[in-house]
Amino acid sequence: MDYAELFEKAVVVSFSVSLFWKIIRHMWSSMDAEKEPVKVLVTGAAGQIGYALMPMIARGVMLGPDQPVIIHMLDIEQCAEALDGVKMELIDGAFPLLRGVVATTDVVEACRDVNIAVMLGGIPRKEGMERKDVMSRNVLIYKAQAAALEQHAAADCKVLVVANPANTNALILKEFAPSITDKNITCLTRLDHNRALGQIAEKLKVHVSDVKNIVVWGNHSSTQYPDADHASVATSSGERSVRDLIADDKWLNTEFITTIQQRGAAIIKARKLSSALSAASAVCDHIRDWVLGTPKGTWVSMGVCSDGSYGIQPGLIYSFPVTCQHGEWSIVQGLQIDEFSRAKMDSTANELIEEKSLAYSCLG
Ligand SMILES: NC(=O)c1ccc[n+]([C@@H]2O[C@H](COP(=O)([O-])OP(=O)(O)OC[C@H]3O[C@@H](n4cnc5c(N)ncnc54)[C@H](O)[C@@H]3O)[C@@H](O)[C@H]2O)c1
Repeated sequence: MDYAELFEKAVVVSFSVSLFWKIIRHMWSSMDAEKEPVKVLVTGAAGQIGYALMPMIARGVMLGPDQPVIIHMLDIEQCAEALDGVKMELIDGAFPLLRGVVATTDVVEACRDVNIAVMLGGIPRKEGMERKDVMSRNVLIYKAQAAALEQHAAADCKVLVVANPANTNALILKEFAPSITDKNITCLTRLDHNRALGQIAEKLKVHVSDVKNIVVWGNHSSTQYPDADHASVATSSGERSVRDLIADDKWLNTEFITTIQQRGAAIIKARKLSSALSAASAVCDHIRDWVLGTPKGTWVSMGVCSDGSYGIQPGLIYSFPVTCQHGEWSIVQGLQIDEFSRAKMDSTANELIEEKSLAYSCLG
């Protein structure tokens, strides 16, 4: 081999080696590239759920351990100082994923460019208040915030309404923010869903993560229908039906349902405050599954806009079993509904129809 040939070979080898390293470096840096931060709005952020929720979002419980976040916190003027205190604590938490915190009482600043909106803000029912008073104050808040989200949030912002009456507040938000697609407005019934999983796990003395496919139908209120008919438990001999394993239809059709329906009241009685940590955790579960997808073969309960599935009036925000993929939910179809379930699903739907007309009467 002469020098010229040797030189040519050396050039080819060194070019190939350098190309190889360039490819490896490129793959490495794209694996390592930081994601764009997601902006998460939390309204009513100075309240109890807000306080439990904030560190969960900042730690990646909601959107995953590699997703940076910027948190926008909104509350009313009277809570501005408390809100600043929460901001100080978020800074003091030194959370690696937290790329910024906005604490404001200005709804426009709060909503600007947000990708996810968690709506906790609202007026709770206090002693002596009529249901209509609570409804009218909350629907006015949701009508105003619908307009702010519509004008200032990111075009594909996903909205989760938590504040009660959650389904009807979400309905008002949907009606007064017509440019936000119905698919992006939901309300929280995941806490009820998780409570139902917890009760089944306790009854069967199994781990809660082995129980799946409970359904919570309808309103986040005492008429909700937690339904274990389609639920199953992972056992050493495969998946078994919850109804077969419990073998106590009376318990499933009475005590189980009322325990879930009245769990919120039981927590208030015990804590003298309403549930906050389990609500914050359910908020993270709801958004995480919506954005990142539900595990294969598993559904969850979400309050979503009815398309008429299971005979529920189209347009109502009703809790259905859903699966999520690529950031979109779909209602699980084809579940067998017996007469007992039908009556309970209709009764909670009727309450929502009645709440809707009360809300509209409040708006005048
Ligand atoms: N859907 C569910 O599963 C579920 C579960 C638990 C609680 N909730 C509801 O979630 C809501 C929050 O609960 P909490 O315990 O945190 O209540 P909270 O009273 O501690 O906090 C509510 C916060 O909202 C603020 N607020 C009031 N009006 C506002 C407005 N116009 N804009 C922004 N903020 C406003 C208040 O100042 C307060 O800081 C309540 O309505 C509660 O009933 C729903």
